[in-house]
Amino acid sequence: MSIATPTTPVIPAFDKGLGNTVAAETQMSFIDGGRGVLEYVGIEIDALARNSTFEETVFLLWNRRLPKQSELNAFSEQLRAEYALPQTLVNLIREMPRAAGPMHVLRTLVSALSLFDSEVDNDSVEANNHKAIRLLAKTPALIAAFDRHRKGKPIVEADTSLTMAQNFLYMLNGSKPTESMARALDVCLILHADHGLNASTFAARVTISTLSDMYSAMVTAIGTLKGPLHGGANEEVMIMLNEIGSIENVDAYIAEKLRKRDRIMGFGHRVYKAIDPRATYLKTFSKQVAADTGNLNLFEMSRRIEEIMAKEVAAKGIYPNVDFYSATTYHSIGIDLDLFTCMFAMSRIAGWAGHCIEQLDGNRLIRPNAAYIGPHQQPYVAVDQR
Ligand code: CMC
Repeated sequence: MSIATPTTPVIPAFDKGLGNTVAAETQMSFIDGGRGVLEYVGIEIDALARNSTFEETVFLLWNRRLPKQSELNAFSEQLRAEYALPQTLVNLIREMPRAAGPMHVLRTLVSALSLFDSEVDNDSVEANNHKAIRLLAKTPALIAAFDRHRKGKPIVEADTSLTMAQNFLYMLNGSKPTESMARALDVCLILHADHGLNASTFAARVTISTLSDMYSAMVTAIGTLKGPLHGGANEEVMIMLNEIGSIENVDAYIAEKLRKRDRIMGFGHRVYKAIDPRATYLKTFSKQVAADTGNLNLFEMSRRIEEIMAKEVAAKGIYPNVDFYSATTYHSIGIDLDLFTCMFAMSRIAGWAGHCIEQLDGNRLIRPNAAYIGPHQQPYVAVDQR
């Protein structure tokens, strides 16, 4: 009988933060961080922000091509047919603590939504496509309904004659938005729809790679997005702008933060070492929205922060990211600052769901290694002798 010789385990190099690890393949978005390029299925984000709609962009991401008009109409109809929430869920929202954080609420409600989906554990491509549509279509209603409830206002039912952006603002405010407000939100939704293997998308892919279900993957992703180093940064940007208060205070505020080596929220990116192309577009766009809504002071403060940061830290490759100017845009549309990260989630559901479907096509469990750095060969000491 031969005795197996122990093999020396091959330990891959430790890559803190996984910045140098390629852990998935995707056909949805391409990022060139050095040049500041973002494309969805090969189309530059700028062209999409200028010309597309959120619905068309989602079709592009999920089908890897732009739709014909009839296909776009059919896709929009599928979404609209799923706008409404189950009544039991609306009743649950009415029972929720009004002071609860909206991202905690969203994470909980997306999980609760799974209880009403008869295909929840069906992992066929067809069922996952249905679930992706339901999740994308219903998330705006979850956010708007909770916001109405916490403000003591009646919950507004979805209007299926409206686009996703229009309908969200309608359910939030109880009145139809102006065209320019709805377009501003639509542009933000386009810009946030997908972004390579960012932290929340990675989290979603890890969850679905265990052959769990799409709702569980969304819940994982929402929890991951919430952090201030990821999607929570847009809210932090607005908090910072409120703290600064007016343009005269900007220089001293930023100087003090940099002196203390604090991070300036809305700046820096793991992948972009040039300006985030979403921020480039939003900068011009948010100026117009801010001017239209009497919020030009916020825009001017943001621009001054960007100027100071360009002098102080651009050499380290730190530039504004998508969250920097989206904060001003959301504020100008009249969205409360603690809903900003929910706006990000509402859009990114498109990317998360698309990545789950990609992951399941030829799935392999995502399971990296940890480098053990503790001791070996330790004695077990009985509890009364420690
Ligand atoms: N303000 C000031 N200094 C910064 C910032 C910032 N926002 N971001 C990075 N740095 C400095 C950091 O202190 C470090 O300096 P040094 O080398 O002198 O120690 C250097 O830049 C490299 O930082 P890092 O932490 O190694 O970079 P990272 O790639 O791990 O971090 C980041 C990326 C996004 C977490 C970070 O830039 C950050 O914390 N930014 C603020 C939060 C933010 O805006 N997040 C939203 C990201 S975009 C939306 C999304 O996709 O989620």
